[in-house]
Amino acid sequence: MAKASKAFVCQACGAVTTRWSGKCTACGEWNSIIEETASPSGPPALIAIKGGKGRPASFESLQVETLDAPRLPTGMAEFDRVLGGGLVPGSAVLVGGDPGIGKSTLLLQAAARLALTGAPVVYLSGEEAPAQVRIRAARLGLTQAPVALGTETNLANIIATLSKAGAPSLIVIDSVQTLWSEGLEAAPGTISQLRGCASALVSYAKGSGSTLVLVGHVTKDGQIAGPKVIEHVVDTVLYFEGHSGHQFRILRAVKNRFGPTDEIGVFEMRYDGLQQVENPSALFLSDRDRGAPGTAVFGGMEGTRPILIELQALVAPSTLGTPRRAVVGSDPNRLAMLIAVLEARCGVRLAGHDVYLNVAGGLKLGDPAADLAAAAALLSSFTGRPAPEDTVYFGEVSLTGAVRAVGHMDQRLKEAAKLGFTRAVVPAACASERELRDLPLMPVSQLHELVAWFGLPEPD
Ligand code: TYD
Ligand code: MG
Repeated sequence: MAKASKAFVCQACGAVTTRWSGKCTACGEWNSIIEETASPSGPPALIAIKGGKGRPASFESLQVETLDAPRLPTGMAEFDRVLGGGLVPGSAVLVGGDPGIGKSTLLLQAAARLALTGAPVVYLSGEEAPAQVRIRAARLGLTQAPVALGTETNLANIIATLSKAGAPSLIVIDSVQTLWSEGLEAAPGTISQLRGCASALVSYAKGSGSTLVLVGHVTKDGQIAGPKVIEHVVDTVLYFEGHSGHQFRILRAVKNRFGPTDEIGVFEMRYDGLQQVENPSALFLSDRDRGAPGTAVFGGMEGTRPILIELQALVAPSTLGTPRRAVVGSDPNRLAMLIAVLEARCGVRLAGHDVYLNVAGGLKLGDPAADLAAAAALLSSFTGRPAPEDTVYFGEVSLTGAVRAVGHMDQRLKEAAKLGFTRAVVPAACASERELRDLPLMPVSQLHELVAWFGLPEPD
């Protein structure tokens, strides 16, 4: 038998090198390389070819009896929405997020709700002792839920236990980074252990029809491998995000084999657990600075749901040679483009100014329709004139300075009318499509029209 060789694996990106170094040459991460034992017999593909001991596999047709994957609703509507209607039996879900963001709370609530409907649920907590999980359950008022609680972290023992007791409907592993297998000669939390254990559990779930939920901590220092390295193994990847200073938490799907990836679930962290937020717009606008210059409300869409969000801008004279541009909750390139369009097409001189843009409430925007609202906030701060009150904005700005049409006009307008807004600034191309009677529209076709409303001179 060939001698086991040493391999040095970067815990941040998975790159393998033959010698240790302080910095990973592949991803540039410092102090992330750990020694792991490579498989003594070489890559599995080569073993299979050399040995020639493969078994013929059987094929199946594409025809199915049921068109839609059967769903197991957890009873938490926001969680189910992000999953695409509920948990899919036999699938694997990864829930990633920063430590302390509320992953264990979310999954204990979902597991308990499901268990209360009579479905068998197993919750394996490798991070916390049963007493700690019980205290959390008491805080959430869920001590009566028949969840089978365990603390096993050894892969072989977990699979043996599950096989003996019969496959449950839901298995929660909190967290996947505590799992270890004797078959893998690496410390728990390393890439080899993470990949090996995760794929073994995913195959178990696929074979048994249980839904597997793996919790993974996003790590910063590379000492423990992050959830990114197992994203390809699972069917659905959800990230739980939010600022620890804010009580809002957003659950977002970044990969979903059984549903959409642009849906978000909004929660509020309270003393008694995560509360679902059915009307996120009202929450995001609750502590708005009405009438202050530098703010504008964006009529946005997240998946199938309209959400109104306040954008805040600060344009201040700069003392630096290169003025500062900083963005929280949106794409910095998008802001740079908008500033360039305002300069080049509308004659707004921002070159000597620092520009800051902030999306209130800790939400991350990816919708280009936010351009018009961002421009309004910037112009309002630049001129010191408050943007007209009770007005929502949406529209994409192109490099020529034209305001482009965006989708879901009706839903955006209905949400704005519902929350008491009395006017909407919209792309002219959308406004000609239809008129919503209870919300007067102010169409703009070029960005310089908006600039003129703030009292700035129009370019020649
Ligand atoms: P937790 O679910 O343990 O986070 P994670 O598993 O992602 O590390 O929750 C962490 C934080 O949430 C903790 O700081 C306390 C707070 N919290 C509440 O505010 N209300 C609650 O009901 C619970 C259970 C936790
Ligand atoms: Mg936890």
